[in-house]
Amino acid sequence: VSKSNIVLILIGATGDLARKKLLPALYHLVAENLIPPLYIVGAALEEATPATIMEATKPFLKKFDETQFQHFVKNFSYCPVNLAHPEDFKKLAACVQDVQHKGYENRIVYCAVPATLYGPITEQVAAADIIWREPKKTTPWCRVVYEKPFGQDAPSAHALNQTIARYLDERQIYRVDHYLGKDIIGSIALLRFTNRIFEPLWNYNHVAWVEIDLSETVGIDYRGSYYDSFGALKDVVQNHMLQILALIAMESPKLLQGNYIRDQKAQVLKHTRFVDGFLGQYRGYLQEKKVKQNSTTETFAALKLEINNKRWHGVPFYLKTGKCLQKRETKVIVQFKEVDCLLAQRCPSDPDYLLIQITPEAEFKLAVNVKKPGLALEVERVLMSFYYEHHFSPGAVSGYEAVLEEVALGEQAISVRFDEIEYAWGIIDAIEKRKLPLFIYEQGSQGPEELTEFAKRNKMRWHI
Ligand code: BG6
Repeated sequence: VSKSNIVLILIGATGDLARKKLLPALYHLVAENLIPPLYIVGAALEEATPATIMEATKPFLKKFDETQFQHFVKNFSYCPVNLAHPEDFKKLAACVQDVQHKGYENRIVYCAVPATLYGPITEQVAAADIIWREPKKTTPWCRVVYEKPFGQDAPSAHALNQTIARYLDERQIYRVDHYLGKDIIGSIALLRFTNRIFEPLWNYNHVAWVEIDLSETVGIDYRGSYYDSFGALKDVVQNHMLQILALIAMESPKLLQGNYIRDQKAQVLKHTRFVDGFLGQYRGYLQEKKVKQNSTTETFAALKLEINNKRWHGVPFYLKTGKCLQKRETKVIVQFKEVDCLLAQRCPSDPDYLLIQITPEAEFKLAVNVKKPGLALEVERVLMSFYYEHHFSPGAVSGYEAVLEEVALGEQAISVRFDEIEYAWGIIDAIEKRKLPLFIYEQGSQGPEELTEFAKRNKMRWHI
């Protein structure tokens, strides 16, 4: 057994995230030998066994292989833990030590539990010596992973950062955002900074506006109590969408790695301001399970933000997201300005744009104008497309696989730093203070009708 072996303590092992995302991702990484040898110690409130947990996980595995499956279950143990009982954490520590004696020395603690438990869990695992502060880069190492939402506003995120900083160095902390694990999102910086056709144009001189859209057809499913206290702004804007905005808008990092990227993203988030916007709620939301009667929680948001710096002076960033919409689609549109030349005036054409599509298919599309065949001078806009999966192998690594792989390898680009998180919450807090109007929209529609009014008012056009 080599020194790089890892024991992963999965807190919340019987929960939904573990069953549907984390364990399938770990299974795949182990089966494909993409991470060092791994032993999992599951912990949760319930009585369970590795076999029962993995049986429930089976339907979510991409590829099932009996031998691999048995091997995975063999390297998995389970320890029931009640957060209110410190002695349970001592038992968990003993369980982890057993595994350590088998040669699994490096540690990952993965908190797949509600965010309100991050502070208390960190305190308990520190008290039980399950985690330790690394004085500098050392082996064996110890890393702790926190899921989103990290806090529920800027003050609570700040308090949580302070609590965990008492026990861990920032280098050991992974506040993961699974969007940062998506390949195409990882390519945004490369696309921008390594291509001459984009790099010089990526600023207020040439960009009219940027649109970031995260539309979903699904509703809130079984997550009524969580969703009703969070809503779209806190569920996806604060994290996934503002992270995309930061990657689209940041200055060039020296290297495409952890802190270099995070320094640049933090600068963007620090200078991002809310300008205009409105919220929506799908009809029928109030009848969802565990949603408060008369709840005013938003399931839709349309926002205009601006970044107060030289590069983006006066360029609006429009963010739009919603549940129960007509289409499932996550995309970024970089809308270029009109070309200022005589020919362009004589043959009316739409300005070009770049589409970065994240779901359902990862693709880049560049809209350009061409002349239609024939004698008359007529212009048509065509799309030059690049499909990720047509070129690279399909579905190579999923968001969570990338997240777990990078934690195991110690790369922090998929992890959001303490300052980024607090700036992002600051933006959301400012929006919430404005008490934006809430419009009801029909399920399966494009969102509230107010979208048209908003577009008119802001002289923009949604790419729907
Ligand atoms: C999660 C949100 O973080 O992201 C969900 O809590 C949302 O509400 C999901 O549906 C979207 O992620 P993806 O990868 O399915 O686009």
